Amino acid sequence: MAQQWTPDGWRQRTALQMPDYPDAAALNGVLDKLRSFPPLVFAGEVNALRRRLAQVSEGDGFLLQGGDCAESFAEFHPDNIRDTFRVLMQMAVVLTFGGAVPVVKVGRMAGQFAKPRSSPTEVIDGVELPIYRGDIVNGIEFEEALRQPDPNRLLTAYSQAAATLNLLRAFAQGGYADLYKIHRWNLGFVDGTEAAARYRELCGRITEALEFMEACGINGDSVPEMRQTDFYTSHEALLLNYEEAMTREDTITRIGGWYDTSAHMVWIGDRTRQADGAHIEYCRGINNPLGLKAGPTMERDDLIRLIDTLNPANEAGRLTIICRMGDDQVLEKLPPLIRAVEGEGRKVVWSCDPMHGNTIKSSTGYKTRPFDRILAEVRGFFAVHQGEGTHAGGVHVEMTGRDVTECLGGAQLIDEEQLASRYHTHCDPRLNASQSLELSFLIAEMLKQQRPARQLAQAIEAAQ
Ligand code: PEP
Ligand code: CO
Repeated sequence: MAQQWTPDGWRQRTALQMPDYPDAAALNGVLDKLRSFPPLVFAGEVNALRRRLAQVSEGDGFLLQGGDCAESFAEFHPDNIRDTFRVLMQMAVVLTFGGAVPVVKVGRMAGQFAKPRSSPTEVIDGVELPIYRGDIVNGIEFEEALRQPDPNRLLTAYSQAAATLNLLRAFAQGGYADLYKIHRWNLGFVDGTEAAARYRELCGRITEALEFMEACGINGDSVPEMRQTDFYTSHEALLLNYEEAMTREDTITRIGGWYDTSAHMVWIGDRTRQADGAHIEYCRGINNPLGLKAGPTMERDDLIRLIDTLNPANEAGRLTIICRMGDDQVLEKLPPLIRAVEGEGRKVVWSCDPMHGNTIKSSTGYKTRPFDRILAEVRGFFAVHQGEGTHAGGVHVEMTGRDVTECLGGAQLIDEEQLASRYHTHCDPRLNASQSLELSFLIAEMLKQQRPARQLAQAIEAAQ
């Protein structure tokens, strides 16, 4: 029998990576306000995402999860939201058409504000200040007053998430995601790259396919999915005060229970996944689909224990294991985890985060990621799944629609000198639009190769 759960039960556990608010009364005042605000997402949508992820876990579909490492208040602008959404849609089209799989689209957007850090403080020129923990907690500027955790930032984060989500819903449902307008999604600055040429060619083929279907009587009027899409939001459930305040009991859907209404999906970071810790305690009680990051230190037994806690009913779609091993460790560390989970018959989605295990410091002092290593980890991830006979079910990337120079390489051959020219991230280096598109072509190729194995597995299942 599972222990009783309450939204504030995490407070009895050790909570790593959380700020110390100097003024508890001010914090509680803000949390009371948040508790009275409308939910950002609804139980019915969350349940729909869980059903889609259940299909992915059964080999039918692919999870595309991407967006900023950290959203910031300063970069909050409709153009940035549009550009990131557009690149995610381009990637989804490449994966859907090239890889011939349904793609579940989930943004690291509309709430991805809080960041785990490797040290609680930072020293510059002999001055020590609290570390920057994301705009929902404190300011990035190296100034004493701004580095103090400020509860009012929770309210700004809520309102930015609400406005972002509103725009995303409009894009997804209001005509922007219309497949008939696919050519208009081209971004000026990826022009001239091979990925852009391949994308344009793919659009031509899709348009031909749409014309053929139209001639057969199938069009956007008969199939609304061709004019709109489902787009979901996600972020790391790190700042538990915020998540708790957004937790509501569902009284509308048949399923009932508790939902974290700050996003459709939330994940547990690699640094806050202690079995007896606050983050696992909070997440086990909400009905949202959960992600669990698994880095190279994740042991088989720990993973099984965490799965027991987070998904005791072994429900498909509930849990996505987001593996982030690094390109040099994925071949060694991933197979034992897959064998343990599959051997115990646990239903999970296997997703690959090729970003967080491949971060280096450039000789010019920038935190960066070589694009080649990102591609190598994704290749390794697919190769391992092919070897184990399991489904490589998703990818989790830090990316932006802007033309930044944060990750090395790609078709634009960004080198160490160029990193400085457009390095804007508030935390980790992101793929730019062209690198994101290039990555999606590679994944589409691998999905195509995975297809016969997938079809065979489905046929065997159907026959049983
Ligand atoms: C992240 O996804 O931004 C992150 C911090 O990842 P991880 O927990 O895997 O290090
Ligand atoms: Co990151």
